[in-house]
Amino acid sequence: MKDIRAYSLKQHNTFGIDVTCSRYLEYSTQEEARQVARILRESNQPHLVIGSGSNLLLTRDFEGIVVRSVLRGMTIDGERLTCGSGMTWDDVVDYSIAHDLHGAENLSLIPGDVGACAVQNIGAYGVEAKDLIARVWAIEIATGEERVFRCDECKYGYRQSRFKREWQGRYLITQVEFALNREFRPRLDYGNIRSELARRGIDKPTARQLRDTIISIRREKLPDPAVLGNGGSFFMNPVVERAVYERLAHDYPAMPHYPVDADHEKIPAGWLIEQCGWKGRAMGRAAVYEKQALVLVNLGGASGADILALCLAVQHDVKARFGISIQPEVHIV
Ligand code: EPU
Repeated sequence: MKDIRAYSLKQHNTFGIDVTCSRYLEYSTQEEARQVARILRESNQPHLVIGSGSNLLLTRDFEGIVVRSVLRGMTIDGERLTCGSGMTWDDVVDYSIAHDLHGAENLSLIPGDVGACAVQNIGAYGVEAKDLIARVWAIEIATGEERVFRCDECKYGYRQSRFKREWQGRYLITQVEFALNREFRPRLDYGNIRSELARRGIDKPTARQLRDTIISIRREKLPDPAVLGNGGSFFMNPVVERAVYERLAHDYPAMPHYPVDADHEKIPAGWLIEQCGWKGRAMGRAAVYEKQALVLVNLGGASGADILALCLAVQHDVKARFGISIQPEVHIV
């Protein structure tokens, strides 16, 4: 187990923000996870569980204990794949394809760890983690009790779960079990997947070809955090009442939108932000990414407060122009 005092978190967030925490604990086995839960229970300090920090904006030093799982390991049992919470998500996708287990292809190259994928319900190109998650293993910090939650008990929604809402800070996730398929049934209907496959002269893709195509679509639009600090989509796409959508659609007939249910439509925040003239614009060393307005980037040397100031300016302008409040997807601390 790693146990370090006055620790810099610069390597632990993809915005590359240099702040510290009072203490940093990292567990790599089930026994170490129990030990970490015990330390958290016995200390009077606040704690923050992080993954690889790809969805995290740190705006200040954290006066408390930061915890990270590096618990690895993957086992296959039939069509079930069980992974340690500290596994890198994209390694799981790659491994599943290599072992003829299907369903995760569209989630290729999403940054982050397995534990965070179960908290955040990551999603892309028409697939969400909740479509694959079967069970989540966790330790309750307050009691040390080991729990197993079925997918439906986690109450997943769009980038939402009970771990993110009412259970925030309550559990340490240790393992996640995914229910995959031996049969490959590709999901090709979202956005430009089909046109990108056609451009490559592929009619019926293999799982590997689908993964490669998703990877190249993502690389085209999303900045590599190793080059330009960022946290992926900074905002969630707002879901609005039908009446609001109809008013906007009347004023902006070209506005993209996705039906949610009979009463709601989802509107891409990237489009709203671009309409406000923010795409590619900087405020100091923080900027809205030039190829995808949903992504805020650190041009180098931005503080967490600089990124937050940009976030507030963008939110303000979208609200003023469209009357819609866009909410951060990134966890701001
Ligand atoms: N759009 C613009 N301008 C922009 C960006 C987007 O007009 O600057 C328009 C696009 O033309 C398109 C629509 O908005 O019509 C949707 O864009 P895109 O397909 O790029 O996806 P998104 O809605 O912006 C969501 C997820 C991404 C995920 C993609 C693909 C959220 C918050 N984001 O983005 O997830 O990769 O769909 O499925 O739901 C992430 O969560 O970090 C993330 C990258």
